[in-house]
Amino acid sequence: MSETGSVDRYAVMGNPIAHSKSPQIHRMFAEQTGQSLRYEALLVPEDGFAEAVADFLYRDQGKGLNVTVPFKQQAWELADQLSERAEPAGAVNTLLLRDGVLYGDNTDGAGLVRDLVHNHGVQLKNKRILMLGAGGAARGVMLPLLEQQPASLHIANRTVLRAQELVGCFEEFGELSASGFDSLQGHFDIIINATAAGLGGEVPPLPEDIIDRNTLCYDMMYASEPTAFVRYCLEHNAAKAVDGLGMLVEQAAESFYLWRGVRPDTQPVIEALGNS
Ligand code: ATR
Repeated sequence: MSETGSVDRYAVMGNPIAHSKSPQIHRMFAEQTGQSLRYEALLVPEDGFAEAVADFLYRDQGKGLNVTVPFKQQAWELADQLSERAEPAGAVNTLLLRDGVLYGDNTDGAGLVRDLVHNHGVQLKNKRILMLGAGGAARGVMLPLLEQQPASLHIANRTVLRAQELVGCFEEFGELSASGFDSLQGHFDIIINATAAGLGGEVPPLPEDIIDRNTLCYDMMYASEPTAFVRYCLEHNAAKAVDGLGMLVEQAAESFYLWRGVRPDTQPVIEALGNS
């Protein structure tokens, strides 16, 4: 409860936003932890993000925000102060006011790492990782992945220049390399799909032999049906192929912790969403 006795308000802002699972996830977290709060999904016009944030946090005294497509970069620019992990990510998915200062964090990478390591039992240390894609989604998770000290991280992207630029931004944090898809070769323990190809039901054009029986495939995208990438990897005999449902719930848990100081149990929420 806030000082005025009204329930603390949170929201996710995006465009589109109707299919966001964040309200459902945060309501389950609140119920489970006994926290009294309200969380809603707000559709924000493409050119109205800064105004919507000001209205929600200053006028309506909202306590915190999640930010999704297409506003994560704008949220990064808007924040007065950035967390260590949000700064190099170039994107912010969590905002809150701290002593009047607009603080921006990015919990996506932590959510991905926690899902891989904690939920799927996949250690990243000394592993050879292949990241598909070099856009905002890939950039957002680079630092938390590299903090796990993989042996190497190779970025493959349709536009090679973007992959090379991403390597340039993060090379001080690990063993990085870049290529297009056609010249992709070598053996990888873990392949992470951070491209937007799945939005059109497509899979990045991977060489036939890049997946084998030991490869763990992870799609950062989530859909109620198995994603095109997950289907492709299983058809190519991957050891395991999972979608981004766990990441979605884990990044939300990290935001919830930031706002409320309480860490929810993610397992029952992942199970409930997976069965819905
Ligand atoms: P996001 O924030 O979702 O990462 P983005 O910054 O527009 O969005 O990046 C989209 C990523 O998906 C890019 O890596 C893009 O490749 P390009 O940089 O070459 O454009 C990749 N992508 C989108 N559609 C794709 C497709 N059909 N096949 C392979 N890669 C695709």
